[in-house]
Amino acid sequence: MPKRLALAVLVSGRGSNLRALSAAIEQGTCLAQIACVISDRKGAPALEFAAERGIATRVVSPQDFSDRPSWDRSLAERAAEFEPGLVVLAGFMRLLGPNFLARFPGRIVNVHPALLPAFPGKDGPAQAVAAKVALSGCTVHVVDAGVDTGPILAQAAVPVVPTDDADRLHKRIQAAEHRLLPSVVNAIARGHYELGERPRYVGPADVGAFAPASWPPLES
Ligand code: GRF
Repeated sequence: MPKRLALAVLVSGRGSNLRALSAAIEQGTCLAQIACVISDRKGAPALEFAAERGIATRVVSPQDFSDRPSWDRSLAERAAEFEPGLVVLAGFMRLLGPNFLARFPGRIVNVHPALLPAFPGKDGPAQAVAAKVALSGCTVHVVDAGVDTGPILAQAAVPVVPTDDADRLHKRIQAAEHRLLPSVVNAIARGHYELGERPRYVGPADVGAFAPASWPPLES
């Protein structure tokens, strides 16, 4: 039995992706364990969810630091205490600094509510609605120093319908995120991705191995 991948999950808000990860772990479909949940915001509902489950929580708010480098260093130190094999940004609304990136090189992933490289940054769903695209979705990618610019690991497409506003589309995208993120974390835990400088998928040829179970295999 392969070892569970220890996760440091960084959050800023609601934490529906954290819940989805936790549910997949409990159901046995994601070979990971949540070692800690760290927020940049006191009172984030995601923290409450974690605490209720006995998961260690930390708050590292920029407001408590005189400058960004000290915040970045402290964030990296708090996460490193838990010796995570992977850092997951699950609705973490800040750019990581050089210290954090250097501490976990190639071992940080983010979930973004658009099909990158389209619509990076804030308000991915609103950007998609404004651009009147017919298809958007979500992306799990490795984090680098840019805004949603790191190598893409997996994506799920979600149709945009004429009656969509940003909120309605975001809800539909989130349902896809809740399947995609645990699937990718599971694939990483099982060694199906080589992370590092140039991440690549090295797992079974059948993409169904990490795609949501309801997706047909590409070859069919
Ligand atoms: C998600 O839509 C994610 O793509 C984006 O922030 C949102 C966080 O949602 N990065 P939640 O806190 O996981 O509910």
